[in-house]
Formats: sequence, C-alpha cells, structure tokens
Amino acid sequence: MVRPSSPLSGEVTISGAKNSALKLMAACVLAEGRSVLRNVPDIADVGIMSRLLEAMGLTVRRREDLALEVIRGADVVAEAPYELVEQMRASTAVLGPLLATVGRARVALPGGDDFGSRPIDMHLASLEALGAEFELSHGMIEGRADRLVGAEVVLEYPSVGATENLLMAGVLANGTTTVRNAAREPEISDLAAFLNRMGGRVLGAGSPTIVIEGVEELRAVEHTVVPDRVEAATFLAIVAAAGGEVTLRGARADHLDLLVEKMGRMGLRISPEADGIWVMSSGRPRAIDVATLPYPGIATDYLPMIVAVMSLAQGTSYATENVFAGRFRYVGELARMGAQIRVEGHHLVVDGLPRLSGAPVQAVDIRAGAALVVAGLAADGETTIHHAGHIDRGYEHFVAKLTALGADVERMD
Ligand code: EPU
Repeated sequence: MVRPSSPLSGEVTISGAKNSALKLMAACVLAEGRSVLRNVPDIADVGIMSRLLEAMGLTVRRREDLALEVIRGADVVAEAPYELVEQMRASTAVLGPLLATVGRARVALPGGDDFGSRPIDMHLASLEALGAEFELSHGMIEGRADRLVGAEVVLEYPSVGATENLLMAGVLANGTTTVRNAAREPEISDLAAFLNRMGGRVLGAGSPTIVIEGVEELRAVEHTVVPDRVEAATFLAIVAAAGGEVTLRGARADHLDLLVEKMGRMGLRISPEADGIWVMSSGRPRAIDVATLPYPGIATDYLPMIVAVMSLAQGTSYATENVFAGRFRYVGELARMGAQIRVEGHHLVVDGLPRLSGAPVQAVDIRAGAALVVAGLAADGETTIHHAGHIDRGYEHFVAKLTALGADVERMD
C-alpha cells in the first residue's frame, strides 16, 4: 500500500546487485570447498538460487555476519529442475559451470515470460562453439562435453546471460576462449573479478572483447558483490517522483553515468560522493527522451521506473525499449493510475500529468512493481499493489528502506 509522500529525506544503503549475486552463486559450482559471498541481498531470487544449488548437492548458508557461504563437495548433481527454472530464468546460469566441471548438465528449458519469448539460443550456440553438445527432450536441455575446448566466439548480440555462461565455461576449458561483442555490464566485470580471484584468467571484462585462458582448476574464495545499479536507479526515480533530498550510500555513480545525465535533464540535482550518490529534487520533473540499450546504454531494467516519472513530468516524453520488445505490460497498470501513455510498437509516448490517481494495480514483474511504487508516491489516495511478491524477488527490505526515508508505504497481509 503506497500513499502520497511529502518530500523524502535521509540516507538509504544500496544492497548488492541481484543480477551479479545470482551468477556468482552459480560460479561457486566451479570450485570445491567453501566460497564466501559478501553483500548478497536478502531477496527471494537468492532464495531460489540457494534451493537450486542445494538440489545440486551444494550447501548454502547465511552466516551471522550476513555473508553467504556456499559449500561444494566432490559430487554435484548436474540438474536444474523445471520447478526452479520456471520460477527464475537466471537458473540457466548453472549451465556453463556444470559443463565445465561435471561435463554434463540437465537444465529445464525456460519458457516465455512477461517480456516475450526470451530464448537462450545464444547461450547454447556459444557453449557448442567450446565443444558442448545439446539435445532437447521433454522440455529439458541435455548437455555434454568431455572437456571444453577454447574457441573464438562472436556473439550476435551482447547478451548478458550468454556472456556469463561463456565466462564460466571458458575459465576451465582447454586453451583460450575469445568472446567478441561481449556484454559489458558491471555485473560481467564482477563475475570476471570473482573468477580471477578463484585462479581463473579472464582479461578484458567490461570491454567488448574478453579473453579467457583456461586453467586446470579453481579454488573457493571470498568476494564482495558489486552494488546494485538498478536499485540505485529505482531510488533516483523515487526521489524524482516524491521530491526530497536523499543519499544513496554505496551506489556507484560510475555505473550510472548516462542515467545520471538523463535524470539531471529531468531536473534532478545529482552529485557523486566518495561512497554514494546525493540526489535532490524539488518541483515537477521535465520531459525527456530515453532509449534502452546494452551497457553502457540506459538499462532496460531502469525503463519502467523512468516511465513512471515521465508520466508526472511537464511535457511529452518518448521512451524506446530496444532490449526486450515485449516489456510493456506495466504500461496498462500505470494507465489505471491515470498515466497518459501511448504504445507505438516498441516506443512509448508519455504525456506528463501533475498528479496520478491511486488505484489497485498489479506488479507483473520485479521492475514493473518498483515502477508502481514510484507512481504511487506521487498519486492522490492509496495505491494497492497486488502480487507485490514480485518486488521482493529483487529488492532487499524495500518497504523498510522507503519508510526510513519518510515514505508512506506499508506491506499488507
Ligand atoms: N537473447 C536471445 N537469445 C539468447 C539470449 C538473449 O535472443 O540466447 C535476447 C533476449 O531475448 C533479449 C536480449 O537478447 O532480447 C538481451 O538478453 P540478455 O541475455 O542480455 O538478458 P538476460 O541475461 O536474460 C539479464 C538480467 C535482466 C536484464 C537483462 C538486460 C539477470 C538475471 N537478468 O537478463 O534483468 O534486463 O540482462 O540487461 O541478470 C531484472 O533484473 O529484472 C532483469 C530482467
């Protein structure tokens, strides 16, 4: 339940990145022993990845100091069952590590979701380039590889998931793997840093060409997860909608360059600090144009929250979704709150209004849910977000963080 809030103030600590933590957890399959991951957010998706690793025979434990411990013994069950993959697509991140260590993998093929069909053909084609063979039967992908062999792989598109699977497979392959047109997201660099700490040799992560020299073995190590840039972006949008002055402790401004510039044009005052980002907003945001692109472009994950702010801006904004063509289901929910948004193919035309109108709405995915919170903070009356469990998949202690800033948000039973 979200009610309009007076200007927010205070400090919010940005948690570790969901989309890095999940892959680092999968990478723990690569080394026998006890891996320790710090700054892993306490979110539902981490719970699903923990259940998946446990189904594979690993032990996952949250320690008293809040670090996540992942223990891998000698035997690993090389299977990711449908019940878990169906709940979380990131489960496919175990494909590369399983092929690299066990030499086989049975992973349920994820279906479509709210963003559209979301195939994993590039993951499979790039692992095939390293010598893996796949068969699809009864909805399961069965993969085999005696020993992966390094190769040159040119990705058709800089897919985050395909790049990550390639990194985790190539790191134990025989010889050198070169990935061209690799994804450049900060989460890729975080995974490469973790693999290198484990004894891997990954060069160039964060650039379009990554070179991986395969090693014989990796060891379990400790690592701290990179801060979540999508959570930071969400709080920037929250301040834009509700107004106020907030410090995002731990946020990395260098991972949010373009967004900071765009939000600046919307009228937000933003300044990077030694360990975070300071943001202030007063008055109505201004209209802007935004198009999503792979990093360093504006992330597709930011767009629902940006569109919520656009719907409150002075003037007409244009938004283009280039990454997931079908990712507009939240638009209908914002429209229930009075937002004036026209969908034209993969473009949105958003006519800003001074106020939205609180309404019962539905969170169709994680970021859609966050966008409805942004909208609700600047809507008259109450906004009840159904299926708010989607928000818990990706945001740690969201309600507590918001109320600490003075927002009028509460969780209903
Ligand atoms: N694609 C293919 N074939 C593939 C792989 C991807 O056609 O084999 C297409 C996708 O359908 C999409 C585009 O390539 O159109 C980009 O997909 P990508 O592989 O880069 O995304 P992902 O790895 O599936 C991750 C994040 C998403 C985030 C995207 C883009 C995780 C767990 N998920 O997905 O995050 O939107 O990268 O940055 O890391 C979220 O956190 O809410 C979320 C959806």
